[in-house]
Amino acid sequence: MKTDTDIRDNRAGEGVAQGPRHVAIIMDGNGRWAQARGRPRLFGHHAGARRVREVVECCPGLGIRYLTIFAFSTENWKRTQTEVAGLMSLFRRYISKEMKALAAKNVRVRFIGDRVRLDRKLIDLMDALELETEENTGTQLTIALNYGGRDEVARATKRLARDVSDGKLDPADVDEETLPKYLDTCVLPDPDLVVRTSGEARISNFLLWQSAYAEYEFIDTLWPDFTAKELEILCQNYGARDRRFGTVKT
Ligand code: IPE
Ligand code: IPE
Ligand code: MG
Repeated sequence: MKTDTDIRDNRAGEGVAQGPRHVAIIMDGNGRWAQARGRPRLFGHHAGARRVREVVECCPGLGIRYLTIFAFSTENWKRTQTEVAGLMSLFRRYISKEMKALAAKNVRVRFIGDRVRLDRKLIDLMDALELETEENTGTQLTIALNYGGRDEVARATKRLARDVSDGKLDPADVDEETLPKYLDTCVLPDPDLVVRTSGEARISNFLLWQSAYAEYEFIDTLWPDFTAKELEILCQNYGARDRRFGTVKT
């Protein structure tokens, strides 16, 4: 991945009074949304995928430069084969269909997560979308697919250990600045605001390292009902928060 020069924020005292620059969303509740309508869970996933475009498109107006969305976790493989296969097919279709729209809107897309378990066709589409949007300077959209925070830290540690054994890294130099360089998110700033829809107040293995000082919003709306308007309200709430990063205001 190329490095993004415009990433060093998230330090105490910066950008506090404004809206969030990096919003990360745990898009939850698709299954319950479908169940409430007497439909199969995949119906909810399709409705959820259709919500993404509006949310991506409202980002520039809200001052959100980075949007990260959780699409599939390393734990979601435990679902039925029908649901997993349906989701993988939905991802393939979503990428093929949205490729042009995202490119036209100057959105840059990146994927995080472990690709090894994904099928070749999906990986090729992910690569193509990343390449197609590589020069785009607008909203930086990151899609977490087969992503788990613990898995990411384990994979990062493996790479870091390899650099140590190859003599490229001195263990004495490993600190809070070094480790994130090995994470999937190495070119992204930490999220300022993490939103989870559907009423569950948990993180479910999302951006564990990166969200150490994020603000959180757990809202009852099921993801297929989420709107740009709601995101705007969350951004306003964020603006009223006092991020102290462990310091005391004098
Ligand atoms: C989130 O919706 C999408 C994925 C995890 C892929 P869910 O499928 O978890 O929906 P609920 O939580 O069962 O309602
Ligand atoms: C988290 O939702 C993963 C995604 C939104 C992709 P889950 O529905 O899988 O999380 P749990 O199982 O309720 O913790
Ligand atoms: Mg869920």
